[in-house]
Amino acid sequence: MRNIIIDCDPGHDDAIALLVALANPEKLNLLAVTTIGGNQTLEKVTKNAKNILAYVNANVPLAMGQEGPLVKPLHTAPEAHGDSGMDGPYFKENDYPIVSDNAVFYMYQTIMAQAERVTLVGLGPLTNIALLLKTFPDVKSKIEMISIMGGGIRRGNMTAAAEFNIYVDPEAAKIVFTSGLPIVMSGLDVTEKAFVTIEEINALENGREVHQLVYELLKFYNESGKQFGFEHSPIHDLCAVSYLVDPTMFSGKHYHVDVVTDDGTTRGMTLADRRLKPAKEQNVFVLEDINREAYVHTLLQALARLDKM
Ligand code: BDR
Ligand code: CA
Repeated sequence: MRNIIIDCDPGHDDAIALLVALANPEKLNLLAVTTIGGNQTLEKVTKNAKNILAYVNANVPLAMGQEGPLVKPLHTAPEAHGDSGMDGPYFKENDYPIVSDNAVFYMYQTIMAQAERVTLVGLGPLTNIALLLKTFPDVKSKIEMISIMGGGIRRGNMTAAAEFNIYVDPEAAKIVFTSGLPIVMSGLDVTEKAFVTIEEINALENGREVHQLVYELLKFYNESGKQFGFEHSPIHDLCAVSYLVDPTMFSGKHYHVDVVTDDGTTRGMTLADRRLKPAKEQNVFVLEDINREAYVHTLLQALARLDKM
């Protein structure tokens, strides 16, 4: 059993990653969910997290983190996720509690209180996680690894060079990538192969509650994805959670990965040293391939479990 904290900016794919984590309690002990301004403002993504957690009657502490990046203003992604940050489904009002508005400190206290080490899952800009590591360096000895969705060693999606989560806060990403902690990077190299087809999305329609929720999420996400050239829907963030549920569906390679923080066309790029003799030590395990059938199976199994809970 692995202790985890999920830091996220829901976000359609964040929401699905949360659901799959909640559906695997025998493997993942979800200690807390923390939010970060990213796909939408902090207020909106926190509301979305509340809605998802309330929808499945979860009992996991939810804490609000930073509104925006360390240095630059927040850049949101309404074109991908809509005005709410998670357009598509309708949610009833709920009073799911927010236990803290200082997610960085809440993470610190939660991690230090555990007997076993904790794995951090970063599904949005890495601002909260970077602040945690910088403000409380003693926390590092209690962190087992960091599984992130972010970056890509061949290309970006926000710009030609940079993936969205890293682009939004490259300074934070640099702090995390140079922390010395083990990092597993689900970047675009693997997440764009981790898609569900439109047929698989349509098959969820008219299922029970959680199937219906994911259908509505993915229906919107599939439509919005078309403007970026996607026929099917990569569920990027789910990779970082699925790796913890079953790493055998992935393959990857260790690289030295640097984050470009300079202003200019490559800001936010995750630059892997792919030379035969890299100049610096490997710091990141970059996932590059996935067994897509196993990935979809994990998702469907999670939905079936949640609908029975
Ligand atoms: C990442 O950006 C966000 O829009 C998604 O939620 C995901 O975390 C993909 O580039
Ligand atoms: Ca995200």
